[in-house]
Amino acid sequence: MAVCHFFVVLAILNAVFCNEYSDNETVIMYVNKVGPYFNPHETYHYYQLPVCRPKKIEHKSLTLGEVLDGDRMALSMYSINYKSDVAIKELCRVTFQEDDLQLLRDAIEDLYYFEFVLDEIPIRGFIGHLEEGGFLPHTHKVFLWAHLSFNIEYNGKHIIYANVSTKEKEPVNLDDVTAPLEVAFTYSVKWHSTDLKFEQRGQRMRDNRFFPKTLEIHWLSIINSMVLVFLLIGFVVIILTRVLKSDFARYNVEDEDSEELDQDDNGWKIIHTDVFRFPANKNLFCAILGVGMQFLTLATGIMLMAMLGLFNVHHHGQINSAGIILYAFTSCISGYVATNMYKKMGGEKWVWNINLTSALFAAPFFLVWALINSVAWAYGTTQALPVGTIILLMCLWMFVGYPLTVIGGIFGKNGANGFDAPCRTKNIAREIPAVPWYRSGFAHCLVGGFLPFSSISVELYYIFATLWGREQYTLYGILLIVFGILLSVTACISVALTYFQLSSEDYRWWWRSMFSAGSTGLFVFLYALFYYYKRSNMSGLLQTLEFFGYTILTCYVFFLMLGTVSFFASLSFVRYIYVNLKMD
Ligand SMILES: *[C@@H]1O[C@H](CO)[C@@H](O)[C@H](O)[C@H]1NC(C)=O
Repeated sequence: MAVCHFFVVLAILNAVFCNEYSDNETVIMYVNKVGPYFNPHETYHYYQLPVCRPKKIEHKSLTLGEVLDGDRMALSMYSINYKSDVAIKELCRVTFQEDDLQLLRDAIEDLYYFEFVLDEIPIRGFIGHLEEGGFLPHTHKVFLWAHLSFNIEYNGKHIIYANVSTKEKEPVNLDDVTAPLEVAFTYSVKWHSTDLKFEQRGQRMRDNRFFPKTLEIHWLSIINSMVLVFLLIGFVVIILTRVLKSDFARYNVEDEDSEELDQDDNGWKIIHTDVFRFPANKNLFCAILGVGMQFLTLATGIMLMAMLGLFNVHHHGQINSAGIILYAFTSCISGYVATNMYKKMGGEKWVWNINLTSALFAAPFFLVWALINSVAWAYGTTQALPVGTIILLMCLWMFVGYPLTVIGGIFGKNGANGFDAPCRTKNIAREIPAVPWYRSGFAHCLVGGFLPFSSISVELYYIFATLWGREQYTLYGILLIVFGILLSVTACISVALTYFQLSSEDYRWWWRSMFSAGSTGLFVFLYALFYYYKRSNMSGLLQTLEFFGYTILTCYVFFLMLGTVSFFASLSFVRYIYVNLKMD
């Protein structure tokens, strides 16, 4: 019992059940979802197939995480009692009509699997089986598993593990049959005693998986990329400090010298009257910074929570629901940062700024989600959110997310004191000399996006395979380190690029610094294209739409986060060099 309490306390976000059973007590089996093996995000309700269905379908109430995961559990017809074996028993008889047969054949061709849930343990198996044989004549046969035999492991009063085997009895051939066809569905249950403790449940499930583990963590390549990144950061820092030192020596000596040197006085010094000229579209600029900062906090928070073991790795949905809730509650950060910066830059329309900030991510997210949800709904999949959940999420945004943005914004506006630029800005802007191609904005975006991207490219595969495949990535500590590295690389590259830009006397570094590193999002998207076509077996409109819709949103979030980091890094750098410049 103590163990149970421990688990319940630990799992604030998990709906952890820690059931204790006495002999012969009823153990409830829920049927959950079915779907094509290769499309993790296309799932249907089990009872959408022509199978044994109770007269009245009773659904289980689910957590937000489960709903987001596409779970829709309903009571099954299996009667299972604790520690009592069932020899082969008939569940029901179903008479298939022609369209039922076609539905089943199609499902089996698409390698449909089913998922049941027993005491929080997912039990998965294939609904049928394909047999390809011979070149000439080529045979292609479709079979349906009509018998399920469940194995359940128990220890004392706890269920530790459960699985299903479909192969105990000969399957039913669906090829040369004519409707109506009557099939008897049967099942059997076998209880095995085990020494494993309740705490080892997760381990037991991980070791014995329906979806094969294809992912090996390549420690060597992870370490390799980390070393490279540290070297890169070191290089940039060393070179920049040397260059700056000589710049300072030159500029600050020149001042005391004669004016004749002023003719070939070029470089970042002469633009000191322009470098703090605020950019165009301040409103949007500050909104991006606000939302970027919010996502930086959100991402760090989620990784820390995952590291502390607050999520059940078997359900991505829990992370998604935590993300949504945290998004709503961190909205005050975006409001604060955006309006504060806006006010500092002398912006007046702060109400407009708050609205833009709160819509900057929410609006694109809503559009993408609405499109995907409509298609999912038309397909009748369980990925379509039920009305109740939609209303809940809307309320979360309207009554938590938006008001918090406004409150944060008001605090930000009142807390803003001037921008405090080290140099005065002249009224008339200087002309900007032409730059060679390798100093153009495009080249900067290429470099500024590629380097941060390459620092995470090794881990991206694991992340994609976890989000869009069946893998379970559990090394959240590494993920947090990689995130830190990503941000450091971004900051370094941004500073270096801003230095180059300023020394070619181009003072429009504000937006440039945001885009140069923000373009990492574009590289992530290119990687996603590669992943979709080369590394995954996803297919079909729904799964493709989900993949690209949510990937584009993710890349957008990358842009917001890294653009923000990049800008703030450049800002402190620019402040630093102009503060240390001796002015007349
Ligand atoms: C299911 O579990 C039983 C007993 O725990 C085990 O013997 C069997 O190999 C497992 N079957 C599958 C398909 O994993």
